[in-house]
Amino acid sequence: MIFNILQPFTGIATDVINYFIIRRLWHFCNVECLYYLNMSVQKEIKRITTHNLQAMKTQGEKISMLTAYDYSMARILDEAGIDILLVGDSASNVMAGHETTLPITLNEMIYHAASVVRAVKRALVVVDLPFGSYQGSSRVALESTIRIMKESGAHAVKLEGGAEVGDSVRRILSAGVPVMGHLGLTPQSIYKFGTYTVRAKEEAEAEKLFEDAHLLQELGCFAIVLEKIPAALTKRVSESLIIPTIGIGGGRDADGQVLVTHDLLGITKEFQPRFLRRYLNLFDTIKEAVGEYIKDVKSRDFPSEKEQY
Ligand code: KIV
Repeated sequence: MIFNILQPFTGIATDVINYFIIRRLWHFCNVECLYYLNMSVQKEIKRITTHNLQAMKTQGEKISMLTAYDYSMARILDEAGIDILLVGDSASNVMAGHETTLPITLNEMIYHAASVVRAVKRALVVVDLPFGSYQGSSRVALESTIRIMKESGAHAVKLEGGAEVGDSVRRILSAGVPVMGHLGLTPQSIYKFGTYTVRAKEEAEAEKLFEDAHLLQELGCFAIVLEKIPAALTKRVSESLIIPTIGIGGGRDADGQVLVTHDLLGITKEFQPRFLRRYLNLFDTIKEAVGEYIKDVKSRDFPSEKEQY
């Protein structure tokens, strides 16, 4: 080894010299590693703001968004690095088993939102204003928003609609609360639409959506969800807006994507729209695990000697 040349001059054994040199190198590497690790950890725990989302659009980085309704799931999604957690009124379907999003109440949304906020260190938490909590008047909308913000600690609200809810959007924003819009398939209007099929295929509806998107931007919304509309319309709207769009069934040209977490994980089974990519089949995985547990309890295999005090 190269260090051997030192031996005649120092009289110290080669192994000892090597030991100190290697130790020095090791220490240096550790300091360097920790420095870079710290940098990335700091980056990791930085809280996402609406300004970060705008910067992501400007820099061409896609925004990731998922729904969350409870503490445990929100913790996992936040640690995984999701940018936005939406406490969606889809809780009405996936958590409460209702057929539509209409029955969920403001109190129930606040309960879900507060649970999510307690778990989150990094993601921006957006809460859906539930049906009936903002359509009455802009004053009602502001009162509902203030309750959500005060009682849950969330960071922003989302509401469905364009020009019809313009006054409410304006009033909520004037209180300093960031607002996310939602256009296209707006599930709170399901009884008006009659079906959950793709929206804005006809020119008149596409034009109205385009104008509504621009109105929401002018009013000051920080982002807009585009649900189940043709990919070409998503592209046109997204390219013409400065603020980010988040698509669900809107194709690849939205500035970000959102899915209902229970759909992505395969906890829900029957819901199979074309836009859904399932990453797991948790329904069957959990069912199998619970089946094993039931078997073990019945056969007295559980608990074992080691699993008792
Ligand atoms: O409530 C919800 O989950 C939503 C998403 C589908 C965007 O609004």
